[in-house]
Amino acid sequence: MKNVRVHPAPTLKGEIQVPGDKSVSHRAVMLSALSEGVSTLRGLLMGEDVLSTIGCFRELGVQVEIFPDRVVVHGVGLKGLRPPQRVLDCGNSGTTMRLMMGILAGQPFESRLTGDASLNRRPMERVAKPLREMGAQIEEFRASETERVVKVTGRPLRGIHYKLPVASAQIKSAVLLAGLYASGETGVEEGTASRDHSERMLRHKGVALEISGGRIRVRSGQSLKAEDLEIPGDISSAAFFLVGGAIGKDSQILLKNVGVNPTRTGILEVLQAMGAPLESLNLREIGGEPVADLRVRSVSLRAARIAGALIPRLIDEIPILCIAAAAAQGTTEVRDAAELRVKETDRIAAMERELGKLGVKARGLPDGIDVAGPATFQAGDFESGTDHRVAMSMAIAATRGPKASRVLDVDCVQTSYPNFFEQLQSLGGKVELES
Ligand code: S3P
Repeated sequence: MKNVRVHPAPTLKGEIQVPGDKSVSHRAVMLSALSEGVSTLRGLLMGEDVLSTIGCFRELGVQVEIFPDRVVVHGVGLKGLRPPQRVLDCGNSGTTMRLMMGILAGQPFESRLTGDASLNRRPMERVAKPLREMGAQIEEFRASETERVVKVTGRPLRGIHYKLPVASAQIKSAVLLAGLYASGETGVEEGTASRDHSERMLRHKGVALEISGGRIRVRSGQSLKAEDLEIPGDISSAAFFLVGGAIGKDSQILLKNVGVNPTRTGILEVLQAMGAPLESLNLREIGGEPVADLRVRSVSLRAARIAGALIPRLIDEIPILCIAAAAAQGTTEVRDAAELRVKETDRIAAMERELGKLGVKARGLPDGIDVAGPATFQAGDFESGTDHRVAMSMAIAATRGPKASRVLDVDCVQTSYPNFFEQLQSLGGKVELES
């Protein structure tokens, strides 16, 4: 278990390029593996979560070569996966397990999936249910609360039309991927829009999708074409420095090459509503995804209300938005975000607990949190609870502390942002690694 000591450093200045988008990286590996031919991926996130996805496909017989500047995936087509010899280890990654379940549901073989203690606690039934309706056989075996194997027995699938019970891109994507293997048409309907990276990448790879009024439909019998892809920077990683810059003192940060897909930009809208001077420069498109450079400067923030359709567009940014809220004038209310309770940790409970140590009044609710600001931040020993986004949020908060703080158990940062502490240092942060 690794801890870091973070010293006060209220002024963060400079320019960085955050690592590749985690959601897009998973899909780039998965859809390239299922394509006909070789794909070269640049800017892929080399975090543990994406390495888990790569590990699963290697076990399924897909050759994936990792070079310092690119990853080459030798696609086997939709029908070319081989039965795995071992249990597929999804590590900490919910996206890996849920999307793999969709892909494996239509294979002519049986697979078993597992993960770390955190992933093994998270709900998979939400994905298993529609896949069973399509004809797959899915069972969970539990040795203890933290040990689980999900067995997916692939079967010939039939298309269904499924109304998502929660706004979740992972459920939506799992059903659409299974739809590539199902007879007839498969459709999903979402009440509130969730991230649409799967739809964009499938279309980019030549799959015809019909999308209208919250309904997405796909027909079976389509093949995916191999193509080289560049992955945009992750707005969920950029979020730490957008907030770090906004709550700093005379900070100015330029974040280059950040994905600004409208299903992910809730953080930008909320920070702007809180008064943050954000600039979006050099807007362009790569691989079917919009990308821009983002500039942020320090400012006095005001509270916001974060609820409704905004929630899926910033769900992973709520921990760091709690830090922005703690520095802002007034009480920020987060609602309609019960999904936070089933992320890598219960993020409502984790942020309520850590904000308390920071000297901030916060009140957790079943579906959200109230954060009262502005607070004078205290130093402390902050606990990640093995959740990467909690760890990085508390590290950013600690840059505004009165003296050094510690963030405990920061290995988890490797899942999504392996060079987070180096980049924090390059902007003027003062960080010491303890072991
Ligand atoms: C993700 C979707 C979101 C998000 C997760 C990544 C994805 O989860 O929280 O970090 O890549 O599809 P849900 O779809 O379950 O809300």
